[in-house]
Amino acid sequence: MNSESAKSIKSQSLKIGICGFGTVGGGSYNLLQNNGEEITRRVGCAIDVVRIASRSIKSGDVASAVKISNDPFDVVNDPEVDIVIETIGGFEPAFEVVRQALANGKHVVTANKALIAERGNELFAVATDNAVTLAFESSVAGGIPIIKALREGLSANKIDWLAGIINGTGNFILTEMAEKQRQFADVLAEAQQLGYAEADPAFDVEGIDAAHKLTIMASIAFGIPLQFDKTYTEGISRITPEDIGFAKQLGYRVKHLGIARRTDNGVEMRVHPTLIPHKRLLARVDGVGNAVLVHGNAVGSTLYSGPGAGADATASSVVADVIDIARQKLAGMNKPLLPALGYLSKHDDLEVVSIEEIESEYYLRIPVNDVVGVLAKISSILQGFDISIEAVIQKELDSKTVPIVILTHKALEKKLNLAVAAIEALDDVSGEVMRIRVESFED
Ligand code: HSE
Repeated sequence: MNSESAKSIKSQSLKIGICGFGTVGGGSYNLLQNNGEEITRRVGCAIDVVRIASRSIKSGDVASAVKISNDPFDVVNDPEVDIVIETIGGFEPAFEVVRQALANGKHVVTANKALIAERGNELFAVATDNAVTLAFESSVAGGIPIIKALREGLSANKIDWLAGIINGTGNFILTEMAEKQRQFADVLAEAQQLGYAEADPAFDVEGIDAAHKLTIMASIAFGIPLQFDKTYTEGISRITPEDIGFAKQLGYRVKHLGIARRTDNGVEMRVHPTLIPHKRLLARVDGVGNAVLVHGNAVGSTLYSGPGAGADATASSVVADVIDIARQKLAGMNKPLLPALGYLSKHDDLEVVSIEEIESEYYLRIPVNDVVGVLAKISSILQGFDISIEAVIQKELDSKTVPIVILTHKALEKKLNLAVAAIEALDDVSGEVMRIRVESFED
């Protein structure tokens, strides 16, 4: 850049305030510093961080020109700040910080999936009333630009379904358990150390984090309001190395998926462990990697994969949102170009289908006493509920209790539940039946 053009660009600089300086906030600050010149060349103006609020920040952590404090409202009420980056996480004070920033006419970029999934409907209304952007690319799948893909790249399609590995911590745990036979707790501790896990790791392992992300993607894919409370959520904490081993024998990998599908009955939104044929690309996404497979009625299947958590990957999406807003401002647009959730006129009448009404294939692991006739009784119960068997494994073990593993053909979940209850009531069934849904994702 020659010095004249650099000076004219500098004179138009946009001012950023950051609320929260943990993994993602710190990563976003560093990325804006490290790639500042490249970003300025792309955008046509400098993007300067002028204020940061964090409970733990100290002078010396950031450039001396940046004002620091521990009150996020110092940032959102600072007239100099154009764009607020919210990386505090959680609901309070994050909700009020974002609401106040939007009400003050500032654009907001947030990485806060819980906030968008559970209170996004309210916050987007505030953004619309104030003609500002509330951007949230980093809230889903870390560094993968999946919001942009769904909202812009695929906007000519009716989306039929999407399925994603959208929790890096969970995928890291399942991968390490499958490949290195490591213990669940040990891998979780490593994910926490690496900055992947949520402040409360139950959000990762019980599927809540994935349900937040699925809620956001489903809203954009199908043009429905955000409905986190209707998303069926099941985590990975009951998956055992034994299940991973049986799945492998049957030609499957166990992945924790978020699945959203449009059916004749409405929209399915569900997060649960899933057996996927090992030859599918999705089954081969390992470690902290995320991937989302989207099926549109015109394009067919498209797959988006990349790092789903961590400072730099998430910052990549945060800063991309900042750049979009900067470009919009420099183009003189006085209101956002895109509806935040992709639709100007939503499908408010599309119902969310209850989990009992879905159809799936199932993996069942049934602990039984090793006596003659038990498999026949189980088969007869399944048959009574119109559930047919695709494959069976019965292992000879040096013990009185042996697992019978069954793969079923497609069945209605409501009937499967009744069959499982009847199987568990058999005298020779010695414990709870483990049930994992199976998806093949054929076109
Ligand atoms: N805890 C989340 C994960 C962080 O592991 O995917 C990124 O949203």
